Parts: sequence; C-alpha cells; structure tokens
Amino acid sequence: MSESQPIPKTDRYPMLFSPVRIDSLRLANRAAVSPMTRTSANPDGRPTDQMVEYYRRYARGGFGLVITEGTYTDTVHAQGYFRQPGIATDAQGAAWQPVVDAVHAAGAAIVVQLMHAGAQGQHEGTATVAPSAVRPYGKTNPIYHGDGKEYGVPEALTETGIVEAIDGFVAAAKRALQAGFDGVEIHGANGYLLDEFITDYYNRRDDEYGGDIGNRVRMVRRVIQSVRDAVGRDFTIGVRLSQTKINDTEHRWNGPEDAAVIFRAMAEAGASYIHVTGAGAVDPAFSDDGPSLVQLAAEHGGGIAVIANGRLYDASKAEAQFDTGGASLVAVARGALANADWPRRIAAGRAQNDFDPDLLQPLATLDNQADWEDGQASIFEPLHKSS
Ligand SMILES: Cc1cc2nc3c(=O)[nH]c(=O)nc-3n(C[C@H](O)[C@H](O)[C@H](O)COP(=O)(O)O)c2cc1C
Repeated sequence: MSESQPIPKTDRYPMLFSPVRIDSLRLANRAAVSPMTRTSANPDGRPTDQMVEYYRRYARGGFGLVITEGTYTDTVHAQGYFRQPGIATDAQGAAWQPVVDAVHAAGAAIVVQLMHAGAQGQHEGTATVAPSAVRPYGKTNPIYHGDGKEYGVPEALTETGIVEAIDGFVAAAKRALQAGFDGVEIHGANGYLLDEFITDYYNRRDDEYGGDIGNRVRMVRRVIQSVRDAVGRDFTIGVRLSQTKINDTEHRWNGPEDAAVIFRAMAEAGASYIHVTGAGAVDPAFSDDGPSLVQLAAEHGGGIAVIANGRLYDASKAEAQFDTGGASLVAVARGALANADWPRRIAAGRAQNDFDPDLLQPLATLDNQADWEDGQASIFEPLHKSS
C-alpha cells in the first residue's frame, strides 16, 4: 500500500471519521491509538527499527493520531521498565525521529507519552521515588520484565527532587519537539508519579504539594505549565488522567467536586487536551448513574479537547462518546493491538479480530504483536526481529 492513503469516504460513524483540531494540530479523523507499553526498545532506551514498523502500521491503518507508549523522561528515577524507550537523552530523542517520520509519511500525527514511573518503577537499578514513602499495592508485572515480587518502598521526593523531576519532563518535551513529534502527552494516570501526587493514599506530604486536592494537583499543574513555557503555544500538550491505577481498580476521586478542580487546573496550566481512562472514564464516574469523567472533563476543562478511552473498540460505542459524552476523540488500545487497521476496518464494515490476551504473554513485547499487511491480520505471526 502506498503511503498516506486516506480512508475511503463512508457514511458510517460520521463523527469518528470527521476531521478535528486540537489547538493548531489538524487530525484527519477522531480515532487515536491509546498509549501501550511494549518494552521492546534497545536496552539503552533508544527505539528500534521494529518500533518504526509497529507505529507505522497504525498510521497506515487509518488512525488520525498515534500516542506512543509511556516513555521515560530522565535517567535518574523515571524509568519504569527494562527495555522501555526513553526520551531522556539526546541520543534517545534522535532515535525517535524515524518513528515520527514513518507515522507522518503514512498520514497520521504522533505525540509521545512522557512518563515518570514514580513508586511503580520496576526497573532493576533505578531507585524509585514518590511524593511519600508509601509502598504500592501488589506486585511487579512479569509481562514488563518484572520479577513478580512486591514493589519496593520509594524514597519521598525532596523539593530539589521535585524540581529535577519537572525539569526532566521539560527537557524531554524539548527533545520531542526537536524530533518532530506533534506534541507530548503527560502521563498523569494509572498510579505513576504524577497520579501519586493526586492520590490521597500515596501523597502524605504536608508541604504545598500535599493536603487538599488543590495542593495534590499542583505537581501535574507545574509540569504542564513548565512544559508550556518551554515549548510555546503551538505545540500540543495533552495530559492523561485516571482514578484507577494499574494495581488498584477501585480507587475513586472524592466526587465530582474534585474532578472539577483537577480538570480546571489542567486547562489553566495550558494543556491542549485531557485524555481520560480507567474506571468511570466513559461510564458514570462515581456511582451507578451520573456523569462520566469524559463529561466532567468536557464541562470543567475550559473547552479544551477531551479524549475518551476504555472498551470503545465497538464503533457505535465510540461514536456515542461524541454525541453524549462530549469527547473530541476516542483512543483504543487492545482493539488496536488486534486490529492495527481498526479505522479502515470500521469504515469498510469489515469484522474485527478479537483481542487475544496471548498477544501479551509471556511478555508484552512486539515479538507477540499482530502482523498486519494490506488489511490482512494474523495475530500469531511475529513482526520481523529488531536490529
Ligand atoms: C499492553 C498494554 C500496555 C499499556 N501501556 C500503557 C502506557 O504505556 N501508558 C498508558 O497511559 N496506558 C497504557 N495502557 C492502557 C491503555 O492505554 C488503555 O487505557 C487500556 O488498555 C484501556 O483501553 P482499551 O479498552 O481500549 O484496551 C496499556 C494497555 C495495554 C493493553
């Protein structure tokens, strides 16, 4: 297939296939690839040729926006996983360029998800830090090379450590701009560092970063503001937020009031979009009925774009997010793993492959990734091995 082939015109799902703008970023449609950690980079954190092909497939498959896997921001404490890619050094930044070029050539935009793992880091040799010295629930994850043992107790960040972590996000965002990315997505979800600041049981600080929700959201707010100051108005800065965490599917914020404070802070800090995920993102957020986080973000986010995520691979459910949810885009993760051409399939009315959890076993690496060529998917054929 030649590069940059638009999706044939279709009457199906008119919102999903309509163009959209996030600030100055123009997207061909409203389908985004959700960030997915694949721990397949070089051990030194540089993306590989295999990753170029992996991300190119989503762009060829018709996604308007590709959000990369969580990518670490500094070489001190940010790395979460062995073979996670980084954008913490100039060499790592430069090695992303072929990924960016491949995705652009195939007609999609690409933002890099900037991630500091915080207490949930499980990379051997990287000491973990967090707002407070609170051990995360549960065990490290073998599919990302973890040993399946309990997480360690993180060190509480000093004020200097906080500044260093923020500086890491800023330097990473500048490298992203230089590598040609269309933007960055700041990972404030799923229990990693920035979410730990927001979360009451992780954050026991008694300084300006702890206490009420206005203080607990300060760290994310400062990261966004500092990145915005460094990259200017035209670069897209997203932020991903969730109530739940990879090791805690029950946690909820303290009601719609806290959600309003959090979403308002993101917009005031200069974010271009809010990406919500986890329990209550597209379903009622706090009880059996009531607004979802998508709806609350649309209401309190000062008019910035909202990306909805969570079991939206069924296109009619995705389309409903635009009507009733207030979303600007939808992001799909597992549906995209099984169908790298998810948008093209939907536009053509073709059936989707079911997501097969074996794709992530024993490791969630690209060697288990769906093969996809010219619309034919075979989820069992590995991609070619990386260089
Ligand atoms: C293999 C895998 C890796 C993931 N890695 C990340 C990640 O790096 N950053 C992130 O914010 N979410 C990550 N997620 C969560 C997804 O982006 C998404 O929120 C979740 O799978 C729910 O969406 P879905 O129902 O479309 O799969 C990951 C999910 C999967 C399946």
